Amino acid sequence: MTLVAATAQFIAQKFADEGSGHDWAHIRRVWLMAQRLAVSTPEADRDVTELSALLHDIADWKFHDGDYEAGPRAAREWLRSQAAPEELIARVETVIREVSFKGLGVPTPVSSVEAALVQDADRLDAIGAIGIARAFAYGGHKGRPLHDPAVAPVAHESFASYQQNVAPTLNHFYEKLLHLKSRMHTVAARQIAQERHAFMEAYVARFLAEWEGTE
Ligand code: ADP
Ligand code: NI
Repeated sequence: MTLVAATAQFIAQKFADEGSGHDWAHIRRVWLMAQRLAVSTPEADRDVTELSALLHDIADWKFHDGDYEAGPRAAREWLRSQAAPEELIARVETVIREVSFKGLGVPTPVSSVEAALVQDADRLDAIGAIGIARAFAYGGHKGRPLHDPAVAPVAHESFASYQQNVAPTLNHFYEKLLHLKSRMHTVAARQIAQERHAFMEAYVARFLAEWEGTE
């Protein structure tokens, strides 16, 4: 079995019962999307792209007491257990470190084409129909209200402030989701993002109209 196939099997098992929107189905979509985006980025290393996509949420800080190194560390442990070359492991670790959104006012530059592909793929899964579903699933998992007009959205200027946020779920659209379209690195992702963004904007407008009882 190839390292990519073994990793897919390992992650599929590990995340089978996850219920917060960071499940195997999410990881699988990111893996497939990264490969789709890679078609127009032939210089990207296939193994680095696919392994990083598969391992990008292996130990998310949100579920590890805010420990931002938990993900890269868990990925390294897995790849070492499979006797992967150290150079490959280091490249995957770097991608995982760079993928995550850290607050509206916090830049998240990428240092490789592979990181650009995986970050774009992960962010495409945060918008559109599935993105909406994942946001409310996450909010429900955390016991948050759907919406509260009295709580204004915040443009988090630091990762710490973003991490501590406990706002109603609709605020997440203003604090992250509606900004992702303009933060894509690849042309292919930007195109896919257009339609998903438009759908999400229409959805939010409709949500607010129904909330106010005008629809
Ligand atoms: P990234 O995938 O860039 O690391 P996160 O892990 O912070 O981003 O978020 C992944 C997904 O989890 C989001 O796209 C969203 O669907 C959901 N999520 C995260 N934080 C929130 C939140 N505060 N409210 C609602 N959904 C959230
Ligand atoms: Ni993800």
